[in-house]
Amino acid sequence: MDKRFHLLTGTDVLAYTWIIPPGELISVGELAVIIDKGTKTRYFTRVTGMIHDHKTGGVLVTGLPIGCVGQDRTFRKPRTIPPLNSPVRPLDAGENILLRDFIGELEIGFMMSGNQKIVDLPVGIPSSVLNQHFGVFATTGMGKSNLMKVFCASAIITRTAGILLTDPHGEYATGQPGDPNSRGLVHHPKAQDGLCVFTIRNDDTALEYGMKHLQIGHKDLSIADLGLVFDLTPAQYEVVNLLVPFSTNDVIDFFINEDVESLPSHLRTTAYIGNHQDIAQRVRSAPSDALRLVQRQIRTLLDLTALFVDSSSSSLPEILAALDENKVVLIDIPGMSDAAELFVLSAISRAIFRERQRRFIEEGSAVTNGRTLISIEEAQRVLSQRSEKTGIFREIAMEGRKFGVGLGVITQQPKNIDQRVLAQMNTFFVMGLADRHDRETIASSAKHDLRVLDTEIQTLDMGDAVISTVGIPFPVSCHIHYFEDYLDELWESAS
Ligand SMILES: Nc1ncnc2c1ncn2[C@@H]1O[C@H](COP(=O)(O)OP(=O)(O)OP(=O)(O)O)[C@@H](O)[C@H]1O
Ligand SMILES: [Mg+2]
Repeated sequence: MDKRFHLLTGTDVLAYTWIIPPGELISVGELAVIIDKGTKTRYFTRVTGMIHDHKTGGVLVTGLPIGCVGQDRTFRKPRTIPPLNSPVRPLDAGENILLRDFIGELEIGFMMSGNQKIVDLPVGIPSSVLNQHFGVFATTGMGKSNLMKVFCASAIITRTAGILLTDPHGEYATGQPGDPNSRGLVHHPKAQDGLCVFTIRNDDTALEYGMKHLQIGHKDLSIADLGLVFDLTPAQYEVVNLLVPFSTNDVIDFFINEDVESLPSHLRTTAYIGNHQDIAQRVRSAPSDALRLVQRQIRTLLDLTALFVDSSSSSLPEILAALDENKVVLIDIPGMSDAAELFVLSAISRAIFRERQRRFIEEGSAVTNGRTLISIEEAQRVLSQRSEKTGIFREIAMEGRKFGVGLGVITQQPKNIDQRVLAQMNTFFVMGLADRHDRETIASSAKHDLRVLDTEIQTLDMGDAVISTVGIPFPVSCHIHYFEDYLDELWESAS
């Protein structure tokens, strides 16, 4: 008999208890199985607490029921309880294989049982959840970017969803700059088929790695996005709203080429003789300070994005086509400022959303839309409670799912994400989070109640994650693969 075979001393639908003898170790997060000998049902549980047991000198362990599997091999919520004195023991190899059936195909790591990695139980996310929103929450340095790289590496193999990723740090494409051991998605064995990189790097680098040059046309941009990247005054918002009906091409042409100082105002009635009579007419009543500021901001944004924004060419049709082919599309913009990154991401996200919306309306079904995931780093910038700062992203958060578009919300500060947006999320990756309010926000919004796992979440190490998704019937603890090691494995299995 297994040395670590114990007997169930108490059951309740919400908690199982058993006693382990003095000297034996058990840790929070460890998985155990309880066998109901009568019905042959296996009840899976995860250790959530332990206290000394004075009677025996051992430890009284408490486990959270996570589900049960009967002889029909279907996974059920733990609505029944195993009899008292049923045997409790660690999972065996057969049970690891059994659990694999309930875990998705986009592999990201190995299941953890306490401090142990279960290497015959890889953890994956089901592709079916990728047209819904997911969140990745972790304090800086806990492994968010590594997780996204591993996730994309798996998506390049399964090709079950299109994934858009913008990268202002230049870490996803070719690896962490300055670290010779770090690699990126271009080093994936299937990069040629499943990855499409749009870059602002020079011709040589682009050629070396088969990247395309990123180009965004003026017509792809929206003047309303000024509100996303700058703090606008009410008067500036008024100007922006006046401009919304005009094509962005014309608005940009107007602000680049005309001097708003010389516009006829309702006080000055001199005639305007430029090319954009209608725009001049429309904004002439606006306060001139606000007009000047808007002009300066448009010029600043165009300066910041001069490397890839111009009036004619656009990569958007190619980006949309690659997403339709379920590729990972990487917008590689190293060194780009925060404002410029948001401006571009917003333009691309809007194009994706509008296209999917159009198809949905014309074809009357989301089936042809497939799945597209738009990932946003530091998502609190655009999904906070301040609604004027959210633009297209709030629209996607609220309606995207209907059209097959999901958001991948990556943030260090979940408490600063709008609760309504959190409530729309169906998949949570919770990694090391130092702040209690952040943990509370997540625990109360996740699809499984994660409050009982708070001790475990508090003790997560770098690269560890608790995953709660509608696609897997129970919350899963996992250690995310280290990207470079995972790449090695992919190369091995490709050869
Ligand atoms: N699963 C893992 N296994 C081993 N090491 C890891 C793992 N995840 C992350 N690391 C290590 O931690 C470092 C930081 O990880 P990463 O850049 O992914 O963190 P981050 O959460 O994205 O940080 P930031 O908030 O600064 O963007 C990595 O360079 C890597 O060395
Ligand atoms: Mg990062």
